[in-house]
Amino acid sequence: MKIAVLGGTGEIGEGFALHWAEKHQIRIGSRKSEKAEVTSERFNETLANYGCKGEIKGFDNKTAAEGADVIILTIPYEHVSGVIDVVRPVLSDQIIVSPVVPMTRGEYFEYNTPAHGSAAQEIQAMLPEGMNVVAAFHTVASRRLCSLDPAFQCDVMICGDERRSKDVIIDLTHDIECLRPLDVGPLALASTIESLTPLLLNIAMLNHLKDPSIKVL
Ligand SMILES: NC(=O)c1ccc[n+]([C@@H]2O[C@H](COP(=O)([O-])OP(=O)(O)OC[C@H]3O[C@@H](n4cnc5c(N)ncnc54)[C@H](OP(=O)(O)O)[C@@H]3O)[C@@H](O)[C@H]2O)c1
Repeated sequence: MKIAVLGGTGEIGEGFALHWAEKHQIRIGSRKSEKAEVTSERFNETLANYGCKGEIKGFDNKTAAEGADVIILTIPYEHVSGVIDVVRPVLSDQIIVSPVVPMTRGEYFEYNTPAHGSAAQEIQAMLPEGMNVVAAFHTVASRRLCSLDPAFQCDVMICGDERRSKDVIIDLTHDIECLRPLDVGPLALASTIESLTPLLLNIAMLNHLKDPSIKVL
C-alpha cells in the first residue's frame, strides 16, 4: 500500500514508517519538504542498520498525501485541522487514520472532549463526503514502537464506521509484529480509546513507569 505519514518527522510517525517500510511504500510528510527528506534519510539509515529492506521517502504533507491509499495523521491535536486544510485539495478516497489524542497537561493529564465527541469524529466532519476515518494506535508508546524491540507486545484498539477501511487498518496493524489489533466498534466510540492515553500517562507519572502501553488479557 502507499502510506502517507503526515507529521511523520515526529515521535510516533517514525515508528510507523520504520515498521511498514519493508512491505509498503512509505512517504513521510512535513510542513517543509527539506525536513522530511533529511528525516527520511535518517530513517533509511536505521532500516539499513537493522538489516531491513524498504525505502522511506520525504515530501511536504500535500505531496505525501496525494495518491496515497492510507493517510495517518501523526500530528498534535491542535494542528490537525491546519494540516487537513493543506491536504484537502488532494483528498479523494484515502483512508484516514487518527491516532490523535486531545489532551492537556496540568497537575495531571486530562482528556479534553472535542465538541464532536472525539478527535476522530471531528476529523471525520472535516473531510470530503465519502471519506472514512479509522481511529487507532492511541495507546502505543512511540519510544517502544521506534525501538523495534521484538520483546515489546501490545494491543491496538481500533474503531471506525466503514468495514473495509477498518479491515485495511486491522491488516496494517497485523503487519507490525509487536501489535495485536482489536476491533472496538464504530467511530462513535473513539473517545473511549482516545481517553486511555491520559490515563496511561497519569499511571506512568504516579507509578514511575516508562512508556506504558495496553495489553488486554
Ligand atoms: N508520541 C506518542 O507516544 C503517541 C502515542 C499515541 C498517539 N500519539 C498521537 O500521535 C500524534 C503525533 O504525536 P507525536 O508525539 O508524534 O507528535 P510530535 O512529535 O510532537 O509532532 C509530530 C509532527 O507534527 C508536526 N507539527 C508540529 N507543529 C505543527 C503545526 N503547527 N502545524 C502542522 N504540523 C505541525 C511536526 O512535523 P513538521 O515540523 O515536520 O511539519 C511534528 O514532527 C498526536 O496526535 C498524539 O496524540 C502519540
